[in-house]
Amino acid sequence: MNEKLYNEVIDAVAKQGYVVIENALDIALLEELVSYAKSATRYKSAGISSSAALRVDKTRRSDKTLWLEEDGGVQSNYLSFANGLREAVNRTLYMGLSYYEAHFALYEAGDFYEKHLDAFRGSKNRVLTTVLYLNEAWSEADGGSLCIYDAEDNLVQKVLPKMGTLVVFLSDKFPHEVLLAKKERYSIAGWFRVDRRE
Ligand code: OGA
Ligand code: MN
Repeated sequence: MNEKLYNEVIDAVAKQGYVVIENALDIALLEELVSYAKSATRYKSAGISSSAALRVDKTRRSDKTLWLEEDGGVQSNYLSFANGLREAVNRTLYMGLSYYEAHFALYEAGDFYEKHLDAFRGSKNRVLTTVLYLNEAWSEADGGSLCIYDAEDNLVQKVLPKMGTLVVFLSDKFPHEVLLAKKERYSIAGWFRVDRRE
């Protein structure tokens, strides 16, 4: 039932490496994800891995995250959407994606994430990034936009984190940053990987 959306993602990723799609998911699923994200209490300060060590570096990002788990409910519904995309991508683009990992992210007022790549060039772990936004009302004045750049550092798209907007891009090709949010901002960031799950 998501075939049309999967094809739109696949065509755009094949042509330009990224895509931004508004109102991507079923509204009932989005509403459940929003209420889960807002009521969850186990968010932890996000880490950034530098060399081998995982450390918490608040100068580069200040959001808090919570990993998704199979729960037989709303999280499983989202994960099965993502795994459907993984299979469709593998069938058409032969990317050999082996699994998907994702976390909810909470940016409180004042939080941001500096410009970064999700994978080092040519690295063989995270290869395709997804971000889904879960904010019912959002305007430019609320900050918190996702700015996506190309390899030459030109801004290619600025995305408002509005509920239902889905962004997908090649993890080692598009530097991106989250501008300072002026109010609470929720998203699910996820990564399709090509290694084995630990
Ligand atoms: C990330 C990320 C973007 C966002 O977690 O790596 O870039 O808009 N998130 O939440
Ligand atoms: Mn990122």
